[in-house]
Amino acid sequence: SWSMENFVDKEILRIRKMIGPEDHVIGAVSGGVDSTVAAKVLKEAIGDRFHAIMVDNGLLRLNEAEIVRENLKEHLGIRLTVIDASDEFLQKLSGVSDPEKKRKIIGNTFIHVFEREADRILKTTSGKVEYLLQGTLYPDVIESISFKGPSQTIKTHHNVGGLLEDMKLKLIEPLRELFKDEVRSLGELLGIERSLVWRHPFPGPGLGIRILGEVNRTQLEIARKADHIFITEIRNHGYYDKISQAFAALLPVKAVGVMGDQRTHEQVIALRAITTSDFMTADWFDGFSVKFLKLVSSRICNEVAGVNRVLYDISSKPPATVEME
Ligand code: XMP
Repeated sequence: SWSMENFVDKEILRIRKMIGPEDHVIGAVSGGVDSTVAAKVLKEAIGDRFHAIMVDNGLLRLNEAEIVRENLKEHLGIRLTVIDASDEFLQKLSGVSDPEKKRKIIGNTFIHVFEREADRILKTTSGKVEYLLQGTLYPDVIESISFKGPSQTIKTHHNVGGLLEDMKLKLIEPLRELFKDEVRSLGELLGIERSLVWRHPFPGPGLGIRILGEVNRTQLEIARKADHIFITEIRNHGYYDKISQAFAALLPVKAVGVMGDQRTHEQVIALRAITTSDFMTADWFDGFSVKFLKLVSSRICNEVAGVNRVLYDISSKPPATVEME
């Protein structure tokens, strides 16, 4: 009979057979549940011959690279390299405000940085590197077959679009038969922390698409601080598991305000929290107490320099999307 224990044991054996005894596998990790569970399966199968690579694109949340390092390296024992490529990303994004252009720049730079690192690993290992790990889930497989044709199984959305062709690597996809809830059970079975297993999704382009308009270090600092306050309070107040995704976005406008006897002209933060079953449609979350909203708003205005207003987004998808860009 089918059980998660049997499934993962079989998968580990299958991977061990597939990968030569001296050969290595590489894979990108993001800190999200899919890539973490996939990486842990590979770790169980081939140990240190699996190399996880995390690209810090400078668009991550507060302390994110450190959190991923601690989870994957310290807790899960996965061989991990974190590449700080912030300068490269921010330089390429400089002066760009069109959302699709931003996405493309971030995606292409990611591939470039990942390939450079993969190449370095390829040169320093004795065995071959023939496989690239992907955290593809069953719904992704279905979607690419029905909407895009079977040849195009990686969505550009997922950030590693060109890797396969450019590096001539074959894909290894241990989660391709699983739904999201099954990936979560597998994660728990493999000893991954509950808070990681139940983490909200975070988009590949990161804060880059939550800072509307041009992205620079000043804007990043504002968006990062505001987001951290919002998510921390969501956790503190027990809302986290009732919400599918939540974040603070920095709007590309300035509004007038007052501080002491001074007029201010500062930026505006929009808070967004949604519930959804599949992210194709979504409702805005209507469960926050007024007291909670007051606290978050006053913390952001008091603690984040450059912000004098906080709004709450009450738009559903459709017609809005989850992200604002
Ligand atoms: P939208 O904004 O399309 O978002 O309603 C639906 C879900 O997809 C995530 N999202 C992305 N994830 N790269 C990603 O990896 C992207 O470019 C991207 N755009 C949106 C979004 O966070 C939500 O979970």
